[in-house]
Amino acid sequence: MTGAAVVTGAAGGLGRAVAAALHADGWAVLLTDLDADAVAAAAAPLGGWSRALDVRDEAACAAVAAEAAAGTRGGLGLWVNNAGILATGPSWTHDAATRRRLIEVNTLGAINGTLAALEIMRAQGRGHVLNVVSLAGLIAAPGETVYAASKHALLAFSLGTLSDLRMAGLRGVHVSCLCPDGIWTPMLHDRLDDPGALASFTGSMLTPERVAARAARLARRPRPVVSLPRWRGAQVRLLDALPRLALALTPVIRAAGRAGQRRQRRRTGSTEPGTGPRPGPDENPARL
Ligand SMILES: NC(=O)c1ccc[n+]([C@@H]2O[C@H](COP(=O)([O-])OP(=O)(O)OC[C@H]3O[C@@H](n4cnc5c(N)ncnc54)[C@H](O)[C@@H]3O)[C@@H](O)[C@H]2O)c1
Repeated sequence: MTGAAVVTGAAGGLGRAVAAALHADGWAVLLTDLDADAVAAAAAPLGGWSRALDVRDEAACAAVAAEAAAGTRGGLGLWVNNAGILATGPSWTHDAATRRRLIEVNTLGAINGTLAALEIMRAQGRGHVLNVVSLAGLIAAPGETVYAASKHALLAFSLGTLSDLRMAGLRGVHVSCLCPDGIWTPMLHDRLDDPGALASFTGSMLTPERVAARAARLARRPRPVVSLPRWRGAQVRLLDALPRLALALTPVIRAAGRAGQRRQRRRTGSTEPGTGPRPGPDENPARL
């Protein structure tokens, strides 16, 4: 691989695993996160290149992109918009600040990162923006509706931007979307008895390493949309095309989610609801 790869939200969870997989593939990885100390610790075994970055800050995204481009001979090759937050429960239970923050981080933050990277990649005539979406970007997720709305918006933005790049004649600049099923990261660690989070437990719970390996493969070979696992992408797209059927199946989907939470409780060794591992406050300071 040539050049620098920036990963946002890389202090832990999926972002740290993606940074490690890219480092193993030969990228010079610049790890960024809200939490400067945690991201510096995550970067230490991966070349030690890290910066504090709040993706809601457009100017700061541009500064990181410029630093990454200048930091290696290959310029800025890859930007991974991974930073994200989750809030669960019916939308009417979220206060305005929570709704705003979900959109500001998951959608506008990824748009900031994409545009900062494209400013440099368009001039280079090459580069790749990899946006971490979710299956919740492909289908309405009950209990995670504002989150799903933020991810639907990111998918639409990403695919539309890819078309705009092609219409502008930029064939060497790519945008890819990765849509994984639930991943066992701090985002879900304390949601084993949260009825609002059932949608995240309806399929196969993925490890961050498995998703990171797919992200590294996607970095080598860009594709507009990749679901993980593939069959889940096909399943949710079918349900999305049949909204009345999806609505009728809601009780079945909720039962599958409860079974998934029980399965995960057994796997993690917490037998009682509410006793799943909880992230410490410094593990994920942006958690809502
Ligand atoms: N965990 C899942 O089930 C799952 C499933 C599909 C997609 N995703 C997506 O994967 C991505 C990574 O999530 P994760 O599961 O590793 O979550 P996580 O909570 O473990 O990690 C998220 C990271 O993002 C950082 N972050 C939060 N707000 C930020 C901001 N404003 N600026 C910069 N960094 C910020 C946090 O500090 C944290 O390090 C997210 O986009 C998430 O939506 C997660």
